Amino acid sequence: MRVLVLGGTGFIGSRAVTRLASMGHEVAVFSRGKTRADLPREVRRLVGDQAELGRHVRAFRDFSADVVVGMHLMSEREATAFTSAFAGLTGRALAISSVTTPLAEARRLLGSSTTP
Ligand SMILES: NC(=O)c1ccc[n+]([C@@H]2O[C@H](COP(=O)([O-])OP(=O)(O)OC[C@H]3O[C@@H](n4cnc5c(N)ncnc54)[C@H](OP(=O)(O)O)[C@@H]3O)[C@@H](O)[C@H]2O)c1
Repeated sequence: MRVLVLGGTGFIGSRAVTRLASMGHEVAVFSRGKTRADLPREVRRLVGDQAELGRHVRAFRDFSADVVVGMHLMSEREATAFTSAFAGLTGRALAISSVTTPLAEARRLLGSSTTP
């Protein structure tokens, strides 16, 4: 599958991305480029800010992800922007956060959830 991971260079995100790539998935990460991560060479890097997802729609469309993972959604606003940006662009969106407010919003917008 083609998997786009927003925030895929962080402590947990980079490990998830490395694992996905090792399983044979085609992976792209989207981040500001501030957090350095030693990712497999084949992982595609998209640089940008989650606060401006709308500016990157073309790149997201070009990658054509089967699954998009929002690895670092920290506010209700970010959760709303995430679901809006990827509506119609991907078959499945997954929101991950240890902060309950964005998760509640993502749950409402995406329709299902698993709470650890
Ligand atoms: N680490 C833990 O122990 C822990 C424990 C429980 C739950 N969690 C949850 O697991 C998830 C991932 O955690 P993590 O530890 O991997 O996070 P992290 O190490 O803080 O990494 C954050 C990631 O998000 C990117 N990012 C941050 N702000 C961004 C923005 N405005 N636009 C685009 N990218 C942005 C960062 O890259 P740039 O800085 O380059 O943009 C980086 O890739 C989070 O939802 C966290 O709440 C983590």
